[in-house]
Amino acid sequence: MLKIEDFASFRRVATPFYYYDIDLFRQTAEKVAELSERTGIHVHYSLKANSDRRLNDILSSKGLGADCVSGDEIDYAVSCGYNPKKIFFAGVAKSDKEICQAFQVGIGAFVVESLEEIEIVSDIARRLGRRAPMSLRINPNIDPHTHHYITTGLYEDKFGISDRSFDEAVAMVKDNPYIDFFGLQFHIGSQIMEVEDVIRLECEKVNDIVKRFESTGLVVRNIDLGGGLGVDYDDPDGHPIPDFETWFRTISDNLERRPDQTLHIEPGRSLVAQSGSLITEVLYVKKGENKRFLMVDAGMNDLIRPALYGAYHKIENVTAFYEDNNSRDTRVYDVVGPVCESSDCFGKERSLAKSRRGDRIAIRSAGAYGQVMASRYNMRPFAPSVYSDRIAEAPKRKDYFAEVD
Ligand code: LLP
Repeated sequence: MLKIEDFASFRRVATPFYYYDIDLFRQTAEKVAELSERTGIHVHYSLKANSDRRLNDILSSKGLGADCVSGDEIDYAVSCGYNPKKIFFAGVAKSDKEICQAFQVGIGAFVVESLEEIEIVSDIARRLGRRAPMSLRINPNIDPHTHHYITTGLYEDKFGISDRSFDEAVAMVKDNPYIDFFGLQFHIGSQIMEVEDVIRLECEKVNDIVKRFESTGLVVRNIDLGGGLGVDYDDPDGHPIPDFETWFRTISDNLERRPDQTLHIEPGRSLVAQSGSLITEVLYVKKGENKRFLMVDAGMNDLIRPALYGAYHKIENVTAFYEDNNSRDTRVYDVVGPVCESSDCFGKERSLAKSRRGDRIAIRSAGAYGQVMASRYNMRPFAPSVYSDRIAEAPKRKDYFAEVD
């Protein structure tokens, strides 16, 4: 069950909102910072997973770098205190404006995804009289049939440069006065749970590819293995901090590196998912012909992962737990939102404490790709951030009756 210290105050906060457990978040960030220190693996937080300012201030204060995918993410990362030299700029279709923003800030490296992009970034560098620090994103073509959750590192995916183009990429980069060759980047997919097997496979591929590039005379100074560590959506309380130990150890054990080579990773989800929950209120308990529906005041516009990917998020009735000592019977519900789309559903046939109008519901593990993917569809307002240690400052539910003349 979601940990809530002061349920009486929590209950007064206007819903829906994103609730961040700051203690858990700090512990997670500290764990990663400590492992980074111990193993020498540099961590660049993938800002796309959650751009909440307070969370990012905490991460940057631990010395982490940032992985950005737009010009505005770069400017924002700098404003959150990330060291510009520790910012990488990835993304398959960087605009001229964004490339210039990155030069302006003086980022650590452009992660370039195609031969066409090498040409454009190098040309802009020439016009600006600069050298572009450049990593090449490699598409390692790892077979998804073995590991079905690896979805971005395949020939048919739009990401990265495949081995068929290596020679051409080397020719474009080598001896180019406008390119400072930084290294190679790999990202094979997200929500990886079989960490040991998948990361070992990734490291073996990377070892071969690094050798192949270095056989041309290029020096690969930096190796970036991307993000991807998965989190336990089924049991967030059983595994509140993802298995960073195994990830760091598998990389350290399997990646060949010389003392002059630096290793980098780009976790997003694993740093933020378990610290965040979407909190919503039950508006109606509707008895349909064959089902009971719990109709809540958050919608797919607040958290689109279930509608977009069929993603599973644990759902809990926190009022039943904290106010009624968990004494209510259970019932099976489809938990649905107010948006005019049938896919506006957070979970089908979920067994929950018998729920009533006004109960608070927590949709767990929503800290990653939740708030950042929200929209104002149906002109619904954005759900704000509320922090576990600052509940008193959160906007309160109003007396709406008093506001009607
Ligand atoms: N590096 C690169 C190049 C990436 O494309 C991504 C994520 C990451 C790092 C961070 O990966 P993570 O550690 O979060 O797995 N919206 C989807 C996930 C999209 C991931 C996109 N790339 C979701 O809600 O599951």
